[in-house]
Amino acid sequence: MRLTLRRQSTALLLGVASASIAGCGVLNTGPADERWANYKTWTKITEGNVGTGDPTGFIGNVHKGSSGYRDVYVNDIGAAMLASEGPYNFPAGTVIVKEQFENKANWESQTGAGVTVSVKATASDAPNVDDWIWASSFRGTAKADPFCSGCHSIAAKDDYAFTNGAFLAAEK
Ligand code: HEC
Repeated sequence: MRLTLRRQSTALLLGVASASIAGCGVLNTGPADERWANYKTWTKITEGNVGTGDPTGFIGNVHKGSSGYRDVYVNDIGAAMLASEGPYNFPAGTVIVKEQFENKANWESQTGAGVTVSVKATASDAPNVDDWIWASSFRGTAKADPFCSGCHSIAAKDDYAFTNGAFLAAEK
Protein backbone atom coordinates (compact mmCIF):
# COMPACT_ATOMS: atom_id res chain seq x y z
CA MET A 1 0.00 0.00 0.00
CA ARG A 2 2.76 2.41 0.93
CA LEU A 3 4.55 1.53 -2.25
CA THR A 4 1.45 2.26 -4.33
CA LEU A 5 1.04 5.66 -2.72
CA ARG A 6 4.67 6.53 -3.25
CA ARG A 7 4.48 5.47 -6.89
CA GLN A 8 1.46 7.65 -7.45
CA SER A 9 2.91 10.76 -5.89
CA THR A 10 6.18 10.20 -7.75
CA ALA A 11 4.25 9.91 -11.00
CA LEU A 12 2.42 13.12 -10.16
CA LEU A 13 5.63 15.00 -9.47
CA LEU A 14 7.22 13.66 -12.63
CA GLY A 15 4.16 14.66 -14.60
CA VAL A 16 4.58 18.23 -13.42
CA ALA A 17 8.32 18.09 -14.03
CA SER A 18 7.97 16.72 -17.55
CA ALA A 19 5.40 19.38 -18.40
CA SER A 20 7.96 22.05 -17.63
CA ILE A 21 10.76 20.08 -19.29
CA ALA A 22 8.71 19.95 -22.46
CA GLY A 23 8.77 23.73 -22.35
CA CYS A 24 12.52 24.23 -22.14
CA GLY A 25 14.00 20.83 -22.92
CA VAL A 26 17.17 21.14 -20.84
CA LEU A 27 16.49 20.00 -17.28
CA ASN A 28 16.55 16.24 -17.77
CA THR A 29 20.24 15.40 -17.73
CA GLY A 30 20.42 12.08 -15.85
CA PRO A 31 21.16 8.75 -17.50
CA ALA A 32 18.49 7.26 -19.75
CA ASP A 33 16.42 4.34 -18.49
CA GLU A 34 18.43 1.17 -19.08
CA ARG A 35 15.43 -0.44 -20.78
CA TRP A 36 16.02 1.76 -23.84
CA ALA A 37 19.41 3.50 -23.33
CA ASN A 38 20.96 1.44 -26.17
CA TYR A 39 17.99 1.50 -28.55
CA LYS A 40 20.18 2.52 -31.48
CA THR A 41 21.56 -1.04 -31.52
CA TRP A 42 18.05 -2.57 -31.84
CA THR A 43 15.98 -3.62 -34.81
CA LYS A 44 15.05 -0.51 -36.81
CA ILE A 45 11.62 -1.60 -37.94
CA THR A 46 11.29 1.35 -40.32
CA GLU A 47 14.51 0.56 -42.23
CA GLY A 48 13.77 1.12 -45.90
CA ASN A 49 10.55 3.08 -45.19
CA VAL A 50 10.25 6.86 -45.31
CA GLY A 51 8.10 7.66 -42.29
CA THR A 52 6.50 11.01 -42.88
CA GLY A 53 3.12 12.58 -43.62
CA ASP A 54 0.12 11.25 -41.74
CA PRO A 55 -0.64 7.74 -42.97
CA THR A 56 -2.93 6.88 -40.05
CA GLY A 57 -4.73 10.23 -40.02
CA PHE A 58 -4.08 10.55 -36.27
CA ILE A 59 -0.66 12.16 -35.93
CA GLY A 60 -2.07 15.62 -35.15
CA ASN A 61 0.73 17.86 -33.91
CA VAL A 62 2.49 15.17 -31.84
CA HIS A 63 5.66 13.34 -32.95
CA LYS A 64 6.58 16.57 -34.82
CA GLY A 65 3.39 16.42 -36.87
CA SER A 66 2.76 15.45 -40.47
CA SER A 67 5.78 17.32 -41.83
CA GLY A 68 8.12 15.43 -39.46
CA TYR A 69 10.13 12.33 -40.33
CA ARG A 70 9.99 9.30 -38.05
CA ASP A 71 11.95 6.12 -37.33
CA VAL A 72 10.95 3.28 -35.00
CA TYR A 73 13.18 0.85 -33.11
CA VAL A 74 12.11 -2.22 -31.13
CA ASN A 75 13.98 -4.36 -28.61
CA ASP A 76 14.50 -8.12 -29.04
CA ILE A 77 11.57 -8.98 -26.79
CA GLY A 78 9.05 -7.38 -29.14
CA ALA A 79 10.83 -7.46 -32.52
CA ALA A 80 9.26 -10.61 -33.99
CA MET A 81 5.76 -9.58 -32.91
CA LEU A 82 6.08 -6.02 -34.24
CA ALA A 83 7.46 -7.22 -37.58
CA SER A 84 4.70 -9.82 -37.98
CA GLU A 85 1.45 -9.32 -39.85
CA GLY A 86 -0.47 -9.77 -36.57
CA PRO A 87 -2.64 -10.35 -34.65
CA TYR A 88 -0.59 -8.25 -32.22
CA ASN A 89 -0.16 -8.96 -28.53
CA PHE A 90 3.25 -7.84 -27.30
CA PRO A 91 5.21 -9.75 -24.66
CA ALA A 92 5.77 -7.89 -21.36
CA GLY A 93 9.08 -6.05 -21.55
CA THR A 94 8.63 -5.03 -25.20
CA VAL A 95 10.06 -1.54 -25.70
CA ILE A 96 9.35 0.53 -28.82
CA VAL A 97 11.27 3.76 -29.39
CA LYS A 98 10.23 6.37 -31.88
CA GLU A 99 12.54 9.08 -33.16
CA GLN A 100 10.93 12.13 -34.66
CA PHE A 101 12.81 14.68 -36.76
CA GLU A 102 11.69 18.18 -37.69
CA ASN A 103 12.30 17.74 -41.42
CA LYS A 104 13.90 15.58 -44.09
CA ALA A 105 17.36 17.14 -43.80
CA ASN A 106 17.46 16.42 -40.07
CA TRP A 107 16.24 12.89 -40.66
CA GLU A 108 18.88 12.25 -43.33
CA SER A 109 21.65 13.56 -41.10
CA GLN A 110 20.03 11.96 -38.00
CA THR A 111 20.21 15.20 -36.03
CA GLY A 112 17.94 16.63 -33.37
CA ALA A 113 15.75 13.58 -32.85
CA GLY A 114 12.96 13.82 -30.31
CA VAL A 115 12.37 10.45 -28.65
CA THR A 116 9.17 8.87 -27.37
CA VAL A 117 9.01 5.41 -25.81
CA SER A 118 6.30 2.79 -25.29
CA VAL A 119 7.00 0.02 -22.77
CA LYS A 120 4.73 -3.02 -22.42
CA ALA A 121 4.57 -3.18 -18.65
CA THR A 122 5.90 -6.07 -16.62
CA ALA A 123 4.44 -7.11 -13.23
CA SER A 124 6.90 -4.80 -11.40
CA ASP A 125 5.74 -1.76 -13.40
CA ALA A 126 2.30 -1.67 -11.72
CA PRO A 127 0.64 -1.56 -15.15
CA ASN A 128 -2.26 0.74 -15.81
CA VAL A 129 -5.40 -0.22 -17.71
CA ASP A 130 -3.85 -0.67 -21.13
CA ASP A 131 -0.69 -2.45 -19.85
CA TRP A 132 1.61 0.12 -21.48
CA ILE A 133 3.70 2.81 -19.84
CA TRP A 134 5.06 5.77 -21.76
CA ALA A 135 8.07 8.10 -21.75
CA SER A 136 7.97 11.42 -23.58
CA SER A 137 11.75 11.78 -24.01
CA PHE A 138 14.99 9.77 -24.07
CA ARG A 139 15.76 10.65 -20.45
CA GLY A 140 12.11 10.62 -19.45
CA THR A 141 10.38 8.26 -17.04
CA ALA A 142 8.06 5.54 -18.28
CA LYS A 143 4.72 5.90 -16.53
CA ALA A 144 1.00 5.68 -17.11
CA ASP A 145 0.13 8.59 -19.39
CA PRO A 146 -3.44 9.23 -20.56
CA PHE A 147 -2.18 11.64 -23.23
CA CYS A 148 -0.16 8.92 -24.97
CA SER A 149 -2.42 5.96 -24.30
CA GLY A 150 -5.55 7.97 -25.15
CA CYS A 151 -4.42 8.49 -28.73
CA HIS A 152 -2.69 5.12 -29.04
CA SER A 153 -5.94 3.45 -27.95
CA ILE A 154 -7.04 4.10 -31.54
CA ALA A 155 -4.73 1.14 -32.25
CA ALA A 156 -6.08 -0.87 -29.30
CA LYS A 157 -6.94 -3.83 -31.52
CA ASP A 158 -3.25 -3.95 -32.51
CA ASP A 159 -2.14 -3.71 -28.86
CA TYR A 160 -1.53 0.06 -28.95
CA ALA A 161 1.24 0.11 -31.58
CA PHE A 162 0.58 1.72 -34.96
CA THR A 163 3.89 1.04 -36.72
CA ASN A 164 3.64 -2.73 -37.16
CA GLY A 165 4.45 -5.15 -39.95
CA ALA A 166 1.07 -4.74 -41.62
CA PHE A 167 1.32 -0.92 -41.48
CA LEU A 168 4.84 -0.92 -42.90
CA ALA A 169 3.94 -3.34 -45.69
CA ALA A 170 1.11 -1.00 -46.74
CA GLU A 171 3.54 1.94 -46.68
CA LYS A 172 6.14 0.40 -49.01
C1 HEC B 1 -2.61 12.40 -31.20
C2 HEC B 1 -2.22 11.01 -31.25
C3 HEC B 1 -0.94 10.56 -30.56
C4 HEC B 1 -0.45 10.90 -29.33
C5 HEC B 1 -1.03 11.86 -28.32
C6 HEC B 1 0.77 10.13 -29.15
N1 HEC B 1 1.02 9.36 -30.25
FE1 HEC B 1 2.56 8.04 -30.47
N2 HEC B 1 1.96 7.68 -32.37
C7 HEC B 1 0.82 8.20 -32.99
C8 HEC B 1 0.74 7.71 -34.34
C9 HEC B 1 -0.38 8.03 -35.31
C10 HEC B 1 1.87 6.89 -34.53
C11 HEC B 1 2.30 6.10 -35.77
C12 HEC B 1 1.98 6.63 -37.09
C13 HEC B 1 2.96 7.57 -37.73
O1 HEC B 1 4.14 7.65 -37.34
O2 HEC B 1 2.53 8.23 -38.68
C14 HEC B 1 2.60 6.87 -33.26
C15 HEC B 1 3.73 6.12 -33.02
C16 HEC B 1 4.38 6.01 -31.80
C17 HEC B 1 5.46 5.11 -31.52
C18 HEC B 1 6.05 4.09 -32.47
C19 HEC B 1 5.28 2.77 -32.27
C20 HEC B 1 3.84 2.90 -32.74
O3 HEC B 1 2.93 2.81 -31.89
O4 HEC B 1 3.64 3.14 -33.93
C21 HEC B 1 5.83 5.32 -30.22
C22 HEC B 1 6.93 4.63 -29.46
C23 HEC B 1 4.96 6.35 -29.70
N3 HEC B 1 4.07 6.74 -30.69
C24 HEC B 1 5.01 6.81 -28.39
C25 HEC B 1 4.19 7.82 -27.91
C26 HEC B 1 4.32 8.39 -26.58
C27 HEC B 1 5.34 7.99 -25.54
C28 HEC B 1 3.36 9.35 -26.48
C29 HEC B 1 3.11 10.30 -25.33
C30 HEC B 1 4.22 11.11 -24.89
C31 HEC B 1 2.61 9.36 -27.73
N4 HEC B 1 3.14 8.43 -28.57
C32 HEC B 1 1.55 10.20 -28.01
C33 HEC B 1 -0.10 9.04 -32.41
C34 HEC B 1 0.01 9.59 -31.15
